[in-house]
Amino acid sequence: MTNAIIEDVLPAAAADLQLSSHADVKPDVVGFYDAPTGSVQYIVTDPTTRKCAIIDPVLDFDPRSGSTRTTSADRLLRYIEAHGLTLEWILDTHPHADHFSAAGYLKDRTGARTAIGERVVEVQRLWKTLYNLPDTFPTDGSQWDHLFADGERFTVGELAARVVLSRGHTLCSVTYVIGNAAFVHDTLFMPDSGTARADFPGGDARQLWRSIQRILHLPADTRLFTGHDYRPNGRPAQWESTVAAQNAYNAHLRDCDEAKFVKLREERDRSLPMPTLMLAALQVNIAGGRLPAPEDDGRRYLKIPLNAFPEASVG
Ligand SMILES: [Fe+2]
Repeated sequence: MTNAIIEDVLPAAAADLQLSSHADVKPDVVGFYDAPTGSVQYIVTDPTTRKCAIIDPVLDFDPRSGSTRTTSADRLLRYIEAHGLTLEWILDTHPHADHFSAAGYLKDRTGARTAIGERVVEVQRLWKTLYNLPDTFPTDGSQWDHLFADGERFTVGELAARVVLSRGHTLCSVTYVIGNAAFVHDTLFMPDSGTARADFPGGDARQLWRSIQRILHLPADTRLFTGHDYRPNGRPAQWESTVAAQNAYNAHLRDCDEAKFVKLREERDRSLPMPTLMLAALQVNIAGGRLPAPEDDGRRYLKIPLNAFPEASVG
């Protein structure tokens, strides 16, 4: 768990977020649901220029056979081609624990720029130690083309976009606010599902609460796109809500304050098994979605640290 300093970021950030009116800036957003991991990948497009960004692409991995596939990522590429779009960015919100990122594969296929939050270097350092990776493994974020600072502005086509640091689930999680859409990944889930867990290495429930407050200070009609949906009670997968809906209905936030949320979140996290793919996925995802280099037999291997986590929390 992290001992990282918790910044009191809300007032300044909220004021900044409220400043930009987005009423007539509506990107086209398409979600691609990955049922095996409950993940949602996005393509967000500027309707004027037809330029787009991919957010949180999945590289398929079957842990039973050890085989990887690019089926999910190729689906994104087919959509881009079929709709005559130009891919500008390949964005990750954080290094994921439940799936491999396809950022490296998509970079090789398209040449588009990859990016993630700049604090990914902290996650790299943490997991480099956990995996006992060699000194040659860079922990400077050089595996991505660009590292975003909190509050940094960029564009997708002519759409104004900015980055909001959203730590809590991980040390480096960010939200991408693009026009009137915000890609919040593992902070808020759909209102009936509540919020994301905050117990992975570097996670912190108090920081997650504060990150969520920043998101909930976006304009009430901001469209929120979550990174996961686990279809509670068997309902169809959903991934789009609004700030207003989250404020009114989120199962973990109603009648809550910071202390209550931290208690609820930490108790719930203690009952959850670690994701099946966490130890496989992080070594790929801290390398920008690149598989480990081939060994002298030409084959790539994953490394699993044994007894690094207590049995109860690994599930
Ligand atoms: Fe995650």
